[in-house]
Amino acid sequence: MNNAILTVVGLAIAIASADARSQADAAVKDKAQTCAACHGPNGNSTDPQYPILAGQTARYIFLELRDFKAGRRHDPQMDPMAGNLTPDDMLALGDYFSKQTKAPNGFNADGGKVALGAKKSDEVLCTMCHGGGFLGQNEIPRVAGQHYAYIKKQLADFKARRRTNDAGNMTSVAGTLSDADIENLAQYLANL
Ligand code: HEC
Ligand code: HEC
Repeated sequence: MNNAILTVVGLAIAIASADARSQADAAVKDKAQTCAACHGPNGNSTDPQYPILAGQTARYIFLELRDFKAGRRHDPQMDPMAGNLTPDDMLALGDYFSKQTKAPNGFNADGGKVALGAKKSDEVLCTMCHGGGFLGQNEIPRVAGQHYAYIKKQLADFKARRRTNDAGNMTSVAGTLSDADIENLAQYLANL
């Protein structure tokens, strides 16, 4: 083949793959619309019972969707949502929400409780896993700036072993926390 033909073939392939990519982008945006009903536009939920997904790690989102679908994590609203997703959808949605910019959660923290929460977090070495500033990494979630009510519920759920999809890490950590610790940590983390 001469160079001109090669260029044409190369261009055709580039156009076809860009086309496939934009179709995939449109499909994931379409799916994300369903999620927006609860998790808000771009995953920035304004109702604190629904976790913010914007800026969460892609790997963690994928794993949670897989766990909801497999029945390892339960929530009456979330179970049917995950039940409809294929592993490819889960990967695409994880990628999509991880790339959205997280908006402020609008929480008004109590300064005294925030200070006590920070102290408890240092004592327990939470950031050994969650990373500096609780920004998360890979399978470990970002908790910084998450909704206060949601954080509080998760810590209580781990403590009571209502949520057990964490390979034992969080159930054992939460088992050592008092109700006051949970309140102070939720204040501290929502305020980050
Ligand atoms: C009808 C409301 C509703 C819809 C729609 C919904 N979710 Fe959820 N989702 C929830 C609730 C409630 C929780 C928190 C459950 C709990 O308290 O443990 C949740 C939790 C999650 C979590 C775990 C987050 C974390 O920080 O652990 C992920 C990931 C998630 N949803 C993704 C999605 C995706 C992707 C979609 C769209 C395909 C979606 N959700 C649609 C209600 C919903
Ligand atoms: C040994 C590692 C480890 C330590 C230490 C740890 N975590 Fe976690 N944490 C995890 C993992 C892993 C998950 C995700 C579990 C899963 O896959 O569902 C998690 C989940 C969470 C969640 C739920 C997030 C969400 O979006 O649902 C909160 C809140 C949390 N951790 C807070 C804390 C706090 C506060 C501390 C310290 C008191 C702490 N963690 C210490 C590993 C750890």
